[in-house]
This record gives sequence, C-alpha cells and structure tokens, in this order.
Amino acid sequence: VKIMRVAIVEGDGIGKEVIPAAVEVLDALDLPIEKVPLELGYGKWEKCGVAIDEKDLEILKSCDCVLFGAITTPTDPNYKSVLLTIRKELDMYANIRPIKPLPGLVGVTGKNDFDLVIVRENTEGMYSSIEEIHDDVAYTKRVVSRKGSERIARSACKLAKDRKNEITIVHKSNVLKSDTLFLGVCREVAASEGVEYRDMLVDAMAYSLMSYPERYDVVVTTNLFGDILSDMSAALVGSLGLVPSANIGDKYAFFEPVHGSAPDIAGKGIANPIAAILSMKMMLEWMGYEREAALVESAVEFSIKENITTPDLGGSSSTSDVGKLMADHIRNNL
Ligand code: NAD
Ligand code: IPM
Ligand code: MN
Repeated sequence: VKIMRVAIVEGDGIGKEVIPAAVEVLDALDLPIEKVPLELGYGKWEKCGVAIDEKDLEILKSCDCVLFGAITTPTDPNYKSVLLTIRKELDMYANIRPIKPLPGLVGVTGKNDFDLVIVRENTEGMYSSIEEIHDDVAYTKRVVSRKGSERIARSACKLAKDRKNEITIVHKSNVLKSDTLFLGVCREVAASEGVEYRDMLVDAMAYSLMSYPERYDVVVTTNLFGDILSDMSAALVGSLGLVPSANIGDKYAFFEPVHGSAPDIAGKGIANPIAAILSMKMMLEWMGYEREAALVESAVEFSIKENITTPDLGGSSSTSDVGKLMADHIRNNL
C-alpha cells in the first residue's frame, strides 16, 4: 500500500485545539499515513518575522495533501495571508464546502431536509491580490478569467453528476460585468456537460438560502461570494464549528474547517472539533478510504446522539472530550 504523506498544520488559536482532536480520530483508524507536522501562521510570524517561507511551501508540495486548522490574519498591510499564498501556490482552485445538517441538529431555520454544497472559486475574483493603496483611495482588482471560470464550473458539474445533476450559478452580473463573463462561461460548461443550470443574483440568493435551503444542491460562485455564503450557511446547520471544506487542485489537496482561529474562545478548550474532523473525513474520501470516512461520520453522529457536544451546540463537553469519544467509538467499531 502507498503510504500517504499528510502535512499537519495546526496554525493559530483554536486550530491548536481542533486539529489535535481530528488527529486523535485519524490515529484511531490506524491507516498507513505519515504525518508531517508543520508550523505556519501568525504565531510563527511573531517569532520569526515570517508566517510561511519557501521551505514550508516545498514541504507542503512534498506531501500528498494537507490537514489544516486555522490561521490568524492580522489586518496589517505588510502581512500576506498564509492561506491565500498556499491556495495560489498549490493552485487549489476549487473550494468545496458541504452544508449538510447532522442527524438531530437544526440551525436557524429549524429545517434539516436539505443537503447542498458550495463550490467556491478559490484563486481569483476579489482575492486577486492586485491592489493599489493610496492615502485617500484604495483599489482592489477583481479578476474573472475564462480559464478560472471554466475549471470551477467543471468541478461543480462533476460534483453535480454524482448528485442531482443540477447547479445554481451565483453572481452579481447586474452590476459586475466580470460576473457576466463568469455566468456565461458557467452556462456554457453546464450545457456542454449535460447538467441542468439556473442562476441567482447573490443578494437574492442569500435570502433564498436562509429561507429555502432545500431548493439548492450544487451552488457555484466566485471567491468572495462563496466565502460569505459559506459562513452564512453554517447558521443553517447550527454552528460554524460544523462546516468542513476541501481545497482541490489538479495536483494538491488541502482540507480545513471553514471557520477561523476564533480568538474569542481560543485556549478555553471549548471549540467544536467537528468541522475539523469532517474535513479530515473529506481527506479520507479523497484518498479513497470510503469505509473509514463512513466510520468517521458515524462517530460524529454518535457524539451528538450521546450529547457529548461543545457549548456552541448547547453541550458542556470539551474539544478533547469530543475527540476522545469519537476515537473510542472508532476503535470499538473498526
Ligand atoms: P472565526 O471563524 O474564527 O470565528 C467566528 C465566530 O465563530 C466566533 O465567535 C467563534 O468563536 C465562532 N467559532 C468559530 N469556530 C468555532 C468552533 N470550531 N467552535 C465553536 N465556535 C466557533 O472568524 P473571525 O473571528 O472573524 O476570525 C478570526 C481570525 O481567523 C481572523 O484573523 C481571520 O482572518 C482568521 N480566519 C482564518 C481562517 C482559516 O485559517 N481558514 C478562516 C476564517 C478566518
Ligand atoms: C476562509 C477564510 C479565508 C478566506 C481568509 C482567512 C483568508 O475566511 O477560508 O473562508 O477568506 O478565504
Ligand atoms: Mn471565510
């Protein structure tokens, strides 16, 4: 069997709590995986003046994939986001964010009869990093390319074919002509792939998602809209601490919770590790470990059934209690 090399990046804040819990669950599966710990982020920047360097990028590229916690990004203009650097350097253009309620849990709508996936373009849009900053005016260039739109549309269609064979293209082309290009390319790709499509303006989509999440399946959109809609949609499933993600390119893959480093609760041991654990589950699926991934999901469901949950879900358990329970459940069912 091939031994998979997985870079383990805890990062900052609650990344240092949720990743150890996810690793404990991963270890319980006893798979041929070599873990490569790597320190990146704001903590490293404070210590060494650099958040990520060339050597770190080489190590990431030498691994098959990355399991990542969260990194604090200060608003300091001299600090370049580590996450954006990695997504761009490793050209991981598709950010896949499943919004699926767990059995027994509901979010703000009280509904749990929906199952959608946000497919977020991950390398361009408002995140082009092409900026011009003056004292009284600042510009950010929004980049939408045919190539970038085409490949994210293909990722969405590929996913749609395994689901309901439909996509919703989310854009703001009534104002942004760059989105007219995005919408046009997504329509072309869907038509050529034989996938049904419709489109929604992003503002109306925000309302509709909150009101009728069951109407949507695969949602494809540009970078910033995908960022905002995914945190918003976390409220649909009951906590930001529940939503996982995969950043996928043609060569590399990178798995991380949607949430950030949560400085308001960091160090208290109360962060919900489920988003990180489900991100690790997405990693197992990507590796082809379907049975093990299903086992992780059943461990997550078991923790909720047993009411071993963190305060964001109304429970009083700690991050590590949740991880331990799931690891035990896996060892008992392996
Ligand atoms: P955040 O996602 O860290 O937190 C938002 C809110 O959700 C907070 O109240 C937090 O306590 C809560 N929350 C988040 N994750 C949780 C969990 N697992 N369990 C329970 N509650 C949870 O967003 P923020 O506070 O706006 O950002 C903090 C820092 O994280 C910023 O520097 C931001 O740039 C960075 N960030 C990093 C990533 C990443 O590395 N992937 C993602 C988002 C934000
Ligand atoms: C996310 C985060 C990042 C983003 C930040 C930390 C750069 O919010 O992964 O959703 O905006 O993409
Ligand atoms: Mn975000």
